[in-house]
Amino acid sequence: MKDRIRVCLIGCGRAGMIHARNFAGGISGAVLSALCDASEENLAAAADETGVTKTFTRWQDAVNDPETDAVIVVTPTQFHRDVVTAAAAAGKHIFCEKPMASTEEECDEMIAACRKNHVKLQLGFMRRFDRSFRRGKEMLESGQIGEAALIKSNTYGPSEPKEWMYNVRKNYGPIGEVNSHDFDTLRWYAGSEVKMIHALGNNFRSREKAEEYPEYYDTCTVMMEFENGVLGMITGAQYVRYGYDARTEILGTKGIIKIGGQHADTAEAVTEDRRIISDSVDSWRTLFLDAYRAEDQAFIDCIRNDTEPPVTGHDGKMALVLVNEGLRSLLEHRPICLKQGLPEK
Ligand SMILES: NC(=O)c1ccc[n+]([C@@H]2O[C@H](COP(=O)([O-])OP(=O)(O)OC[C@H]3O[C@@H](n4cnc5c(N)ncnc54)[C@H](O)[C@@H]3O)[C@@H](O)[C@H]2O)c1
Repeated sequence: MKDRIRVCLIGCGRAGMIHARNFAGGISGAVLSALCDASEENLAAAADETGVTKTFTRWQDAVNDPETDAVIVVTPTQFHRDVVTAAAAAGKHIFCEKPMASTEEECDEMIAACRKNHVKLQLGFMRRFDRSFRRGKEMLESGQIGEAALIKSNTYGPSEPKEWMYNVRKNYGPIGEVNSHDFDTLRWYAGSEVKMIHALGNNFRSREKAEEYPEYYDTCTVMMEFENGVLGMITGAQYVRYGYDARTEILGTKGIIKIGGQHADTAEAVTEDRRIISDSVDSWRTLFLDAYRAEDQAFIDCIRNDTEPPVTGHDGKMALVLVNEGLRSLLEHRPICLKQGLPEK
């Protein structure tokens, strides 16, 4: 075993730079050895910030670098399949951001390429590494609230949608943009696959876009039934303005577990006019900062210890199926039945 796993980051944008800072700041047993980005400007900024001198503008060159052991794939989703299959063929271990790809078939190709080349594939569902979400899982498994009956999870994001997001056939809208993490969380907590999904959506905050993008929705609700009988509900929204809001609740037969809140920290001002003032969470980047670091460490640990990655390609594929089938249900205004979590062919 090498002293340190040499890691190349492919895609130095918003999410990529979180991983860059983690690896540059010290993930035990790893070193950030190279950077790749198609944009020379982003690449230069990332190199400047991290001090990494080896850079590539073509991911094809990055994945074939003999001095790289593992890649972190954080390009736009449309490139994930090509980058991951090529990296696997070059014998590199792979961490791939969510969503895994655009279709179930692409996910299958990525999983098969990693299996064939005996490399690790870990997916970027960082909530599984968040302290509170992990504690929720432990509490559920300890039986303190009996058995899970209904699991609810919401993610509401503050930002105004970018122009490309209004085309939901190509880019999903909130079901994919903000809720893919909730789908993974529900599968993880329910310990089962979805057998029925029904989604509804509407556009409330971007009404001026309704004529040009009649299918665009900024708010959605998704109901699910799992094969083991557990019920699920996810709600999602974009452009809520008031902050980033991710909360999960597990109602059991003997109690309830609540995970997450809206406070950025515990500081509160209580004023003479009897108001309580505190800050709300501003972004996923701050809320899950420690979780991103923990998932990067877990990736390196699974390479070094030759263990199964804690979030697998299969998990990535199943979350993507739920996003795809949820969107189909929303656009076709009908519930959809799945078999073992997969669309009926
Ligand atoms: N886990 C999470 O919570 C989370 C959060 C945000 C984004 N993501 C995912 O991370 C991925 C990237 O999203 P983002 O928000 O960082 O996007 P972004 O646009 O900020 O960054 C993408 C980067 O990839 C570069 N790039 C584009 N095409 C490339 C190519 N062919 N080769 C190499 N580099 C290329 C761009 O120049 C840019 O620097 C997406 O799959 C997204 O869904 C995950």
